[in-house]
Order: sequence, then structure tokens, then C-alpha cells
Amino acid sequence: MTPAPGSVALITGGAGGFGRALAGLLADRQVTVVLADLDGDRPRQTARDLGAHFLPLDVTDRAANAAVVAQVEADHGRLDAVFLNAGIAGRSPDALDVDDFLRVVHVDLFGVVYGTEAALPALRRAGGGSIVVTASLAGLSPMTTDPGYSVAKGGVVAFVRSLGPRLAGGGITLSAICPGFADTAIIDPIRAEFEAAGFPVLSADEVAEAMLVAWAGAEPGAAYVVQPGIGVVPYRFQGVPSARTASGEIAVVPEALRRR
Ligand SMILES: NC(=O)c1ccc[n+]([C@@H]2O[C@H](COP(=O)([O-])OP(=O)(O)OC[C@H]3O[C@@H](n4cnc5c(N)ncnc54)[C@H](O)[C@@H]3O)[C@@H](O)[C@H]2O)c1
Repeated sequence: MTPAPGSVALITGGAGGFGRALAGLLADRQVTVVLADLDGDRPRQTARDLGAHFLPLDVTDRAANAAVVAQVEADHGRLDAVFLNAGIAGRSPDALDVDDFLRVVHVDLFGVVYGTEAALPALRRAGGGSIVVTASLAGLSPMTTDPGYSVAKGGVVAFVRSLGPRLAGGGITLSAICPGFADTAIIDPIRAEFEAAGFPVLSADEVAEAMLVAWAGAEPGAAYVVQPGIGVVPYRFQGVPSARTASGEIAVVPEALRRR
């Protein structure tokens, strides 16, 4: 499903680095863009500068996610694509700081769950659509300095993989992108270390292109890795060892449990 001109897209965390880059790409394709982000003069001005609309949203507020989707439909008549992209990193230097851990999980994991819940009825009313979640490479590979971030991003990858195939029959594609480090405000505290080591980071534009690949790719439950020098590649998950019956044959999970 390629972004058709006249489509309506909602981007959470839309005033940040990836959101701004994506808004520009979508505007070039005549897509109506609504940026949802924590309220403030700067995000509102960002939306104006990009020719996008702005709605205030804290993604950790479940009811507010539904209210934003309702507002998009009221203002623009439909909703075709949702980019659940709002995210934060942990701030604590401790190996495990549970308050910090929960803060990150609430935004990066539950913000995605609430956003999906809010978007699904609107996408169905539009006759189908896409949800693209901004996960991270930290959801596929452990980030030892920020376990809350890894848990949240690994959680959204599991969420997308488990829910995606079930939504596909209704014409809704749920997929994720898993970028490596990219040049946005979120890496400000560690940017100097990348520069000193000559470690390549993605540009926000490269990640925004990957978000469009995920929208157009329409592969339910897919997780697209985005890395400097590699581009956008669907991650191929290794299967887990199957249970064996008493006679040594592979045991197949009963159909009712797979489809319930
Ligand atoms: N930049 C990277 O290296 C990198 C790599 C992989 C994944 N990501 C993910 O990409 C996404 C976008 O981040 P970015 O790199 O553009 O960083 P960013 O800091 O520029 O943007 C994040 C945006 O999310 C918003 N936000 C934070 N908490 C929110 C909340 N509770 N409700 C609504 N909005 C909220 C912020 O205001 C900000 O505009 C995040 O989910 C991040 O985890 C970033």
C-alpha cells in the first residue's frame, strides 16, 4: 500500500527528529500530516513550519490517545496511517533503577499499545491502513546501559509480531522499524562518544525513508532493521525448537490456540 495523495497520517512524537523528517517526506507526497507530541510552543511551531497540523498528546494517557484519533477523524475525515514513534531513553547511570525503567516502559511500550488500541477502529472505518511502530535495534539486541529501553523496544517488537498477523485479515498492517543509532536529540548525551570513535550514525531522513518502506511494504508483523551502510532489511527471526511428541515427531500447537 503506497501512501496515496490525500491520505491522512498521524505521527506520535512527531515534533522530534524522526517525526519531522517523516512529516517532510509525507508532505512531498500530498499526505495530510498530524503531529502529536507533548504540548509546547516549540512542537506547535515545528508543525507550522512543516505545514502539518498539531495535536497535544502524552502517549502514556490511554484516553488521550483515543481523543487524538477522534480529533483527527473530525478534522480530516479519515485516518490511513499511524506512526507510533514517541519515545524516550533511560536517564539513570545505575545498572537498574526501577523508577527510570518504568518511566521508559510506560512511554515506549505502553504508549504503543494505547496508540494501537486507539487507531484500530479509525483504520477499519477507513477501509484498512497501516501502523508503523518505531522500535529500535535495542529491541533485537540487548542494550546493557539501558535495560528499560531494551525491554520496551523488545516488547513492541513482540507486540507487533504477535498482533500483526491477526490484524492482516482486516486490511490493517502492523509493522516495526528497528533503527540503529541515529542523529537526533535522543543521542545528545552520547553523541560525542560516537564522533570520537568514528562510529557511523543514521540520518533522520534515512530513518524516515524506512518508515515509508514499512508503510508501503505492508508485511504484517515485520520488523525492519535500519543500519548505516546496510539500508532497510526485514529482520529474519530464528524459530525456537519445537516440542516433540513421545514418538519424537514435531508437536504442532492446536489450531484453536493459534487462531483464538
Ligand atoms: N535516534 C536514535 O538513535 C533512535 C534509534 C532507534 C530508535 N529510536 C526511537 O525513535 C523514536 C523517535 O525518537 P527520535 O530519535 O526522533 O528522538 P527525539 O527525542 O528527537 O524525538 C522523540 C519525540 O518523542 C516525544 N515524546 C517523548 N515522550 C512523549 C510522550 N509521553 N508523549 C508524546 N510524545 C513524547 C518527544 O517530545 C520528542 O518530540 C523514539 O521512539 C526512539 O526511541 C531512536
